[in-house]
Formats: sequence, C-alpha cells, structure tokens
Amino acid sequence: MTSDQRVTISKRATERVKAGHLWIYRSDIIDCQAEGGLVVSLYDNKDKFYGKAFYSNKSQIALRLITTQNDKIDRDFWQNRIKIALDLRQKVVSDTEVCRLINSEGDGFPSVIVDRYKDVLSLQTLSQGSDKIKMLIAEILIKLVNPVSIIERNDGKVRELEGLPRQNLILKGPDPDEIICAENGLKFYFHPLSGQKTGAFLDQRENRMWARNYSFGSGLDCFCYSGGFALNMAQNCCQVEALDISKDAIDLSKKNALLNGIENILFEADNVFDRLKLYDSQKKKFDTIVLDPPAFAKSRSHVQAAVRGYKEINFRALRMLNPGGILITASCSQHIDEFAFLNILTRAASDAGRKVQVIQKRTQSQDHPFLLSMPETYYLKCVFLRVL
Ligand SMILES: C[S@@+](CC[C@H](N)C(=O)[O-])C[C@H]1O[C@@H](n2cnc3c(N)ncnc32)[C@H](O)[C@@H]1O
Repeated sequence: MTSDQRVTISKRATERVKAGHLWIYRSDIIDCQAEGGLVVSLYDNKDKFYGKAFYSNKSQIALRLITTQNDKIDRDFWQNRIKIALDLRQKVVSDTEVCRLINSEGDGFPSVIVDRYKDVLSLQTLSQGSDKIKMLIAEILIKLVNPVSIIERNDGKVRELEGLPRQNLILKGPDPDEIICAENGLKFYFHPLSGQKTGAFLDQRENRMWARNYSFGSGLDCFCYSGGFALNMAQNCCQVEALDISKDAIDLSKKNALLNGIENILFEADNVFDRLKLYDSQKKKFDTIVLDPPAFAKSRSHVQAAVRGYKEINFRALRMLNPGGILITASCSQHIDEFAFLNILTRAASDAGRKVQVIQKRTQSQDHPFLLSMPETYYLKCVFLRVL
C-alpha cells in the first residue's frame, strides 16, 4: 500500500500543509505522474518532504493529506488511526446506540465516514484513495468493533467528482433494512441503506438533547426529518407541530412518535417557508421553535441566496415567539461561518423588532470533531436564543 510515487507541490500548497490544512488543489500540483487512488509522497521543488496523501486524478481536491511524517501507510497505520478515533467515542459518547465512529478529516481519516447504528456500521469512502482501502477498513472494523453488518453507503453525489460509482452494498452480514435504536432515551427507526445521509442527522444528537431541556409551551419543529427534535420537544411541550417537505420523512416521524407512545405532536408535510409566512400573517404564536434546514449554501455561488433564506426563516420565527420563547436555530452550510450566521440572526432579530439573548452557541456533536486548521470541517452552527 505504500508508494514511492512523488508529487511536487507549489509553495502555496506547502504553506497550507504547514498551517495544518489537509487539502491540496490540482492547481497547486507542479509535477505528478501518479495513478489515481494511490498514496503519494509530497515534495516541494527543492526536494523537501511534506507528507503523504491520497491522490485523485479527477477531483479538484487532488491531494488529501494523511500524515506529515514519513510513516509507512499500511494496515497497522490505519488500525492505529481507527483505534484513536474509537478511543474518543469511548470518552464522549453516551446514552445513544447511534453515533459517528470516524469523521473523515476531523479524525485524520481523509474522506472516510463510519456511522454506527447499534450492531450495524455504515461506511462511506468519498475519494479514490479511501475507496481503494475500503475493504481493509471494513476488516479492521470487524476486528475492533465486531458488528453484525457493515454496509457501504456510497450513493452520494460527491463520488461523481472522483469518477467513482454511486452505490450501496452490503459488505458483511444480513441486510439491515430497518433497525430500531435508542438516542437520548427515545427510540427511532433507521434505514441505513435508504435514509437521508447515512440514515440520520447524527451531528445534531446533543443539540436535540439540549432542545428538550429548553422546550416548553407550544412547540414548532421546522425541517423535522425523522422527528428527532420534535420527539425531544414533546417531552416538555404541551403540543408540538412538526413540518418537513418530504412525505416520506413525515411518515417516518409519525412511526417514530408511535414507537415511543408520544401523542402530542402534529406532523404535516409542507414547505416551511410557506407555512412560516402563513402563520406569521395569522399572528400565530409559539413558545419554542426549532429551525434545522438543509444546507442552503452548497457552494460559494449559493451564499447570497442562502443568507436570504436563513434571514427569512429566522425573521419569521422570531416574530412568532411569545416573550420568553426559545429559538433553536441551525445552519449546516460550511460556506456560512459562525460569524456570518450570528450576523444573519442579529439582522433577523432587529428587523423582527425582538431583543434576544444567546443562551448557548453549539456545534456538531462531539463524535463529529473538527480541525481548527481546516474551517471546512466546522460546518454546523446551532444557536439557542431566548426572546426577551
Ligand atoms: C437537516 S435535515 C433536518 C434534520 C432533523 N432536524 C433531525 O434532527 O434529524 C433538513 C430537512 O429539511 C427538509 N426540507 C428541505 N427543504 C424543505 C422545505 N422548504 N420545507 C420543509 N422541509 C424541507 C428535508 O426533507 C430534510 O428532512
């Protein structure tokens, strides 16, 4: 698996590596004869060594740094990386049967994601290099975690940028079509081969717990997917409304509520933008509102439209909260950083004529660690506001 193939990178790329970034773009490659998917050694044009990386011959992210040392990139190397990732989960994950075991670059494991759904592991390999070692990763996980099933959940569009097929396969064990797992004391159905992401939005797990703590009165969960926030809110609200544009998501949410014997949630398939506008015009009021939209800015070219979208839903929600009401508002767009998101919330509050306190600024769950040196890995902002 080790390779002597050399790639010469530009001065700008060496500066990025020194600053701790893990991606090198194609425009910063000076010379490369390597095949796509190989581990290559990085040098500058004075023959100074900078580390080892996965090379892709298709993606604009041509190199994904694995190490800045002259390590042998073999089975032991990857096993050690996996053990370090598992060790973190031992320390930070509790009260759940679902969690992220490997968080790609955030765990020093470029373009590899592993999520755990009780006895089932879901593996994503999102670059040519990591795709080449997926069976090795699966073997190591079988040894260290002993799952009943491992599936390959590789249907993401991002694989097309790498020239890789979009596919879902079972790598080990029986087909885990539908499984029930507990999270924060509630039970949920998961569909690892067909649900959104790898089956759930695990990055919001801790925020869902905090949302439960702050919830009261009448609640509104916007963009509810499988009802994760709504079911938590329902523990402390008298009544919750939950909205998602996807009929499948609403059906799944209803099943999840039933599974837990929860009867105080009204689920409806609708467009949140339309519904918030309608409720605002009707002067409808809530005590607790959750806004957890999909990433509005999937690329830099979408940032302006995304800012307008975030501003609109936060403006409407703030107008609809009773005094003392709580807004739990998230953005998972990596192109809108924390500062920009807080700025949007400030303008939304000002336009809505509401004074707000920030009670908590939170991010992705601790099993989704991010690198200070790589802002792309810090994508989820979740702000808890109280209206005065
Ligand atoms: C980030 S996910 C929500 C995750 C969920 N809150 C959870 O904790 O599992 C975003 C959801 O928004 C839904 N969605 C996208 N656009 C929408 C719209 N305009 N109105 C309502 N729902 C929408 C998607 O179907 C998806 O389920």
